[in-house]
Amino acid sequence: MDKPLTQNFRIEEEPPSIQEYEKSGGYMALRKALEIPPQDVQRLVKESNLRGRGGAGFQTGMKWSFVPMGPDAPRPKYYVVNADEMEPGTFKDRYLLENDPHQIIEGAIIGAYAIEAEFSYIFLRWEYRRAARRIEKAIAEAYQRGYLGKNILKSGMNLEMHLHVSAGRYMCGEEFGLLDALEGRRAHPRAKPPFPQVCGLWGRPTVVNNVETVANIRHIIMNGPEWYRGLSLSGDGGTKLFGVSGKVRRPGLWELPMGISLEELLVEHAGGMQEGYRLKGLLPGGASTDFLTHEHLQVKLDFDSVQQIGSRLGTGTVVVLDDKTCPVGMVHNLMEFFARESCGWCTPCREGLPWIEKTMAAIENGNGKPGDIEMLEEQTRLMAPGNTFCALAPGAMEPLQSAIKHFRDDFERHISERRCPWRK
Ligand SMILES: Cc1cc2nc3c(=O)[nH]c(=O)nc-3n(C[C@H](O)[C@H](O)[C@H](O)COP(=O)(O)O)c2cc1C
Ligand code: SF4
Repeated sequence: MDKPLTQNFRIEEEPPSIQEYEKSGGYMALRKALEIPPQDVQRLVKESNLRGRGGAGFQTGMKWSFVPMGPDAPRPKYYVVNADEMEPGTFKDRYLLENDPHQIIEGAIIGAYAIEAEFSYIFLRWEYRRAARRIEKAIAEAYQRGYLGKNILKSGMNLEMHLHVSAGRYMCGEEFGLLDALEGRRAHPRAKPPFPQVCGLWGRPTVVNNVETVANIRHIIMNGPEWYRGLSLSGDGGTKLFGVSGKVRRPGLWELPMGISLEELLVEHAGGMQEGYRLKGLLPGGASTDFLTHEHLQVKLDFDSVQQIGSRLGTGTVVVLDDKTCPVGMVHNLMEFFARESCGWCTPCREGLPWIEKTMAAIENGNGKPGDIEMLEEQTRLMAPGNTFCALAPGAMEPLQSAIKHFRDDFERHISERRCPWRK
């Protein structure tokens, strides 16, 4: 099968230089894009049915089409690559950034052209030091070859690109939080509308796209939307980087067709469970998705199919829970993360998450009380989507509410036995 996103990968070595990248067809898609009007680039991406890989799965071409275009549009406009990647269990963007930085840069230039942006930022997680070095080098190479700067390839397009290394908070990955941080302020979400496509960075039209989304763009332009849709086994276009972590035989990351089954990913690619461990549950797409269990193994991994069975594809990076790990302990760990990363802007999240974390710690340590589980359930309802400014708190509730649903007996045993049954 075609693996466009990872075709240039050679793990453990330096990524392709610009000369090597060009030899494999690099920057040809940019040349092709510059020959057609920006709106046609938007149309091709729309027809490809590329859905954003940052978690929510919004159609990329559609997102671009909300940007005001033409001579009367507010300027400058910005195209921002979201490389914050701090979701526990998610590590896909790092591979793309480290192993083929020019693929991201070419995609970002085409994205910027499609919305007529003059500036582009790559907003990178602080811990990704190797990626920072490689992206920095690749941006300098692209400037030298005339793919960035003034009058790119004599097309009249101007684009300045900068790498921004973030100070590092989970909230910096949320698109308005990210824009606040870029403006040099503390990261907070903003009320929507207006959306960033209309009023984003410094109040100007801005598109924020995830790294993996951006990596797809050059392949769509090069090979066309039909080819791109044909890579997939379902309605969502393209391939996807799927990852698996936990007690499987071969934890890792693979580029596979969108729409493969969860079972195929776990068994054929991740090698099934390690000797002596059984699958108890899994988070299909990072820490802010609902647990699935055995009964869901046939689900197709695409945005709509996973949603139909009550979870989300999220970032497509599966976290496996085995039968020797305490589910209450695992969820408590996640609640510690979310409580620490709450930006404090709205009350249910600021007050609710630390309270949940304390209750979970008490249950895990044998100090839980009858009624605690019902109180936790009540909290998940209070932090349902729409009750908070951003998706951090509702996202945090997904593993909790689904753990109570699938592993309620384990919560109850902690309380009745006044200890964690997994601790010797
Ligand atoms: C708390 C929080 C953290 C997020 N972190 C990231 C992140 O690290 N990377 C990312 O691409 N999107 C992240 N998102 C989603 C972004 O807000 C945004 O939807 C995404 O970058 C859009 O890109 P896409 O359309 O290409 O998927 C986060 C959202 C929330 C609520
Ligand atoms: S949900 Fe949490 S992280 Fe999001 S705005 Fe409210 S307080 Fe901040």
